Amino acid sequence: MKTKARKAKASSLQKRNSKRKILALHGPNLNLLGAREVSVYGRTTMGEINQALAQEAKNLNIQIEILQSNHEGEIVDLIGKAGSRFQGILINPAAYTHTSVVIRDAIAASALPAVEVHLSNIYRREEFRHHSVTAPVCVGQVSGFGKLSYILGLQALVHSINASFPR
Ligand code: DQA
Repeated sequence: MKTKARKAKASSLQKRNSKRKILALHGPNLNLLGAREVSVYGRTTMGEINQALAQEAKNLNIQIEILQSNHEGEIVDLIGKAGSRFQGILINPAAYTHTSVVIRDAIAASALPAVEVHLSNIYRREEFRHHSVTAPVCVGQVSGFGKLSYILGLQALVHSINASFPR
């Protein structure tokens, strides 16, 4: 592609992305990152993850709102209200990944594309973490890359929104 055509394409992609707004949700205990089980989750805090997400959102020219809740019902409410304001959901459901049919149903009901992320590789940990109740209603899952899981997840989510991947 000629340089001029490439530049025009890049600028139209940027314009399209600027209309995208993503809801990023941290589940329970992720507010404790940095001090919590450092041998598993490292020293990166939730604030640092949020800064990295905000920076990546800038790079992608999208908008992002980042929230954390320790409460299942509150997460369900946030997902339930997301449909009118957001085009996609980036979620680390934390321990609810393995138990919460209600969060799974909320994601499915929202009809928004969602990407599930985990700091740790849940498949290398205790057996009860090997099963995700929520992943089957997500476009995909990124697990095991620490802070980078969120960044890769955000990139994948925006990519799948733009490509209108099947859910
Ligand atoms: C986690 C993995 C979950 O099994 C655990 O309950 C968490 C964090 C992760 O990001 O690695 O709280 O979602």
